[in-house]
Amino acid sequence: MISQSRVDQGTSLADRFMIRWQGDPDPAHVKAIDAYWSSAAEHGMNASTFTARVVTSTLSDVYSAVTAAIGALKGPLHGGANEEVFKILEEIDRNGADPVEYIKGMLAQKQKVPGFGHRVYTTEDPRATHLRRMSRDLGYSSGQAKWFDYSKKIEEFINSEKKLNANVDFYSASTYHTLGIDIDLFTPIFAVSRIAGWAAHVQEQLSDNRLIRPRAEYIGPTYPQKYIPLESR
Ligand code: COA
Repeated sequence: MISQSRVDQGTSLADRFMIRWQGDPDPAHVKAIDAYWSSAAEHGMNASTFTARVVTSTLSDVYSAVTAAIGALKGPLHGGANEEVFKILEEIDRNGADPVEYIKGMLAQKQKVPGFGHRVYTTEDPRATHLRRMSRDLGYSSGQAKWFDYSKKIEEFINSEKKLNANVDFYSASTYHTLGIDIDLFTPIFAVSRIAGWAAHVQEQLSDNRLIRPRAEYIGPTYPQKYIPLESR
């Protein structure tokens, strides 16, 4: 049990969090978490932030907005992508597979490779640049370089084959693992940081609120339709 007075010695949110978690954390790990949290705190109108704004716009409460945002964040096309990345790295490692062959197999089955592509960035996600460096430095300094090495091979292949860049989630998977973070905690650790962005958007929404209510374009069959009894369908 870590005492509160020990936690209070922490010099930043990341430091306090790591002391609470590990007691006497490696300063390099604290620096990595601090850098990651700084880069992940806010990112415009991404899916989870938009979710928080929609909930807020109904004048529901901030707890509901954040809870809904977490639900959106955990999806594998959003913040949950790093879990999927690490599952792939683990499978490659477990089976002694060639990372490039493994990814070729995914593409042959028309699967998206988690950790690549972005709706907004057409060049490299600037956060990925820092995560790549962290993954490499932490991996090599802790004797767990294999996760970075698998990731680098995958990245080089996807860059040349699909002209797609790594996004923030790709190298956060190996970075998190090297920091000793379990896969089930990947999204919660992301959420610890992004809650700052969500909260700012909630405040901004409330400062000039109007219900967010998009219209939908109906593209189904038009009237008149013939009624078919249930038993005949
Ligand atoms: N792996 C393989 N191909 C990908 C890809 C990926 N990760 N991301 C995009 N593509 C390809 C698509 O197959 C499509 O090719 P096509 O035009 O030949 O069909 C093209 O790039 C455009 O993809 P699309 O899905 O329409 O882009 P989008 O803007 O709707 O999607 C993402 C953006 C992020 C949802 C998408 O890139 C993706 O699913 N990435 C993996 C999940 C992920 O890492 N999410 C975290 C984002 S920070």
